[in-house]
Amino acid sequence: MKISNIDLKTAYRFLYPRFTIIVSSGTLSNPNALTIAWSTPLSADPPLLGVLIANKRYSHEIIKETKSFVVNIPHFNLVEETHFVGQISGREDPKKIEKAGFTLEPSKKIAAPRIKECKINLECKLVDTITTGDHDMFVGEIIEIAVDSTIRDEWSYDLSKHQSIYWRQSKFSSDAYRLNVVNEEDLT
Ligand SMILES: Cc1cc2nc3c(=O)[nH]c(=O)nc-3n(C[C@H](O)[C@H](O)[C@H](O)COP(=O)(O)O)c2cc1C
Repeated sequence: MKISNIDLKTAYRFLYPRFTIIVSSGTLSNPNALTIAWSTPLSADPPLLGVLIANKRYSHEIIKETKSFVVNIPHFNLVEETHFVGQISGREDPKKIEKAGFTLEPSKKIAAPRIKECKINLECKLVDTITTGDHDMFVGEIIEIAVDSTIRDEWSYDLSKHQSIYWRQSKFSSDAYRLNVVNEEDLT
């Protein structure tokens, strides 16, 4: 039996747990950052990704104005810091990034700064904004990738050396999928 009388406004919850990242924006002297669980690759060539940010967020205003942002991928050992920047708006507390315990460093190609403690940074130039509903999708062209040499492997990064954060219903977990791994070549 399948249940179907479910509040449609909760439909998005069936798409969790979700890969959790931090989007930094603004400039090195006037930065902001927020935690997001809604992001997606959009194209390999050109290299595009989408980050979904609610219209009311301070980051929304900043990215619209400054047209660049960085996708910072935190290790699970940064879960507290990651939670912190997702709780407080930079509008109320302009020092939230340093209070979280993060350090900023200049990006190579854009004004938006990178988070130093995150071992993977994707520098993006805003190329489109798609209005969806209560969130807008900022489409970023990835123009620079920085990965710590200690975690890099030939595909992207070594999962045994860098465990990402996944979020669902007030709980954080590290690479949920690591525990149940099947090699593609073992499938018929
Ligand atoms: C785990 C987690 C995931 C979140 N995902 C999103 C998201 O996908 N999009 C969004 O707009 N806000 C999301 N938020 C909320 C923002 O991070 C939060 O409102 C933040 O304080 C906004 O900061 P700002 O106003 O400085 O931009 C999430 C928060 C947490 C803790």
